[in-house]
Amino acid sequence: MPILPSGIVTVAYIGATILFILALRGLSDPETSRRGNLFGMIGMGIALVATIFGAVTENYALLIGATLVGATIGLILARRVQMTQMPELVASLHSLVGLAAVFVGFASFGDPESHFVGVEKTIHDIEIYLGILIGAITFSGSVIAFGKLSGKISGNPLILPARHWLNLGLLIATFWFGAQFVEQSAAGGGMMPLVIMTGIALLFGIHMVMAIGGADMPVVVSMLNSYSGWAASATGFMLGNDLLIVTGALVGSSGAILSYIMCRAMNRKFLAVIAGGFGTTSGSSAGGGEDQGEVAPIDASETAELLKNAREVMIIPGYGMAVAQAQHTVHEITKKLRSKGINVRFGIHPVAGRMPGHMNVLLAEAKVPYDIVFEMDEVNEDFPNVDVSVVIGANDIVNPSALTDPESPIAGMPVLECWKGDTTIVLKRSMATGYAGVQNPLFFLDNSRMLFGDAKETLDGVLAEL
Ligand code: TAP
Repeated sequence: MPILPSGIVTVAYIGATILFILALRGLSDPETSRRGNLFGMIGMGIALVATIFGAVTENYALLIGATLVGATIGLILARRVQMTQMPELVASLHSLVGLAAVFVGFASFGDPESHFVGVEKTIHDIEIYLGILIGAITFSGSVIAFGKLSGKISGNPLILPARHWLNLGLLIATFWFGAQFVEQSAAGGGMMPLVIMTGIALLFGIHMVMAIGGADMPVVVSMLNSYSGWAASATGFMLGNDLLIVTGALVGSSGAILSYIMCRAMNRKFLAVIAGGFGTTSGSSAGGGEDQGEVAPIDASETAELLKNAREVMIIPGYGMAVAQAQHTVHEITKKLRSKGINVRFGIHPVAGRMPGHMNVLLAEAKVPYDIVFEMDEVNEDFPNVDVSVVIGANDIVNPSALTDPESPIAGMPVLECWKGDTTIVLKRSMATGYAGVQNPLFFLDNSRMLFGDAKETLDGVLAEL
């Protein structure tokens, strides 16, 4: 007998579902995101308690022991992980969701107490098959994504000959083995086609993510996020757990929407990203060591002078600001300039940094007011009126060749068009390329100045001069 009666469990599940929806709503805006997170945490707490004491009937010692081990690992990971490693952490967590779906699928298939017969059994078998299929693709795809994001596997896309035919062949094979599985399972067997399909799904996940080029990895992470939601949902069907079905569907659909938004931001077609192969072309601007002319360096005091004499300043943060942890100094400089009557705004590219909302999180942490932080589309038209743009550790998101060079790996990606302003100051340590590995013609333009060094150190210098 479960400790909590089923009526209470149902009410708790409905409460948790509402909190999860409120969490997603809250997370859609920086100002309400903390509250959104809180709703999510409370919802998950309620869901865990209701499931452990309401849905589970025995083996409490094992369950609570495992929960404590999992919670401890989660706490340690969350404390240790750097902001810049978040995408890797997220990818590795998705892999665990996929693996859990596979395990639950096999356990559900082998359950000696399963009492399904006839059509119900067929439906349950299809749930098991789909759960394991999506789970295995999510698992192996996320492991490869983790490897690529952490640099353990090359970011270059692996393009096998006839890869689309290979994918199609694997897809047809999964349908065929699915039919075999349902047929054999009705006769008391079915393990063989299930195991073979799991192998195919694992290979498919590996192939799918290996074929995706570095610059498209953000979309892949949010796509795997969506898959992990569907895997959880399929697990919910297998276990007959309504909350898991709803939660999985929420994660699955919000991940799909996020993937779509990111594809639009990078001017990619969703299906084309999944089919892979982006980042394979090496255009005329590709490569780091190409001679594109001379750059004009600038120092901290000249930078401070330019900023003091400006009326309109646009700050464009990128991945390097996160690496240097320069956000607090950026805010100090912003306050100084605003106190002199200078209009300072932040222009945020949707894929700046290494995860969705990366820059917003850092700026919020440094307490930069939300009303001066703008999305790319809100400020891109204004650059002709900007006196000084300060590009802090950003590269790909301000690369004009995305608009001018159709051969570039980032061709077609909308970028912040800072070169249209009076002067652009670029803060970075060297002439190294960014994430997509392409050189940036912006650095060589007549109205660009390079402030070399770690962004935190150089900005401290600028602040002192101000
Ligand atoms: P990047 O193009 O990667 O450029 C970052 C620049 O920061 C580098 O050129 C680097 O130059 C500089 N940098 C690194 N550490 C620094 C430090 N301590 N001080 C100063 N500069 C430093 O970044 P971005 O412009 O933000 O563009 C994001 C890229 O990442 C896009 O290609 C995007 O597709 C990809 N991506 C995005 C996401 C999401 S969801 N946002 C996820 C994965 C990948 P130096 O080495 O010379 O200093």
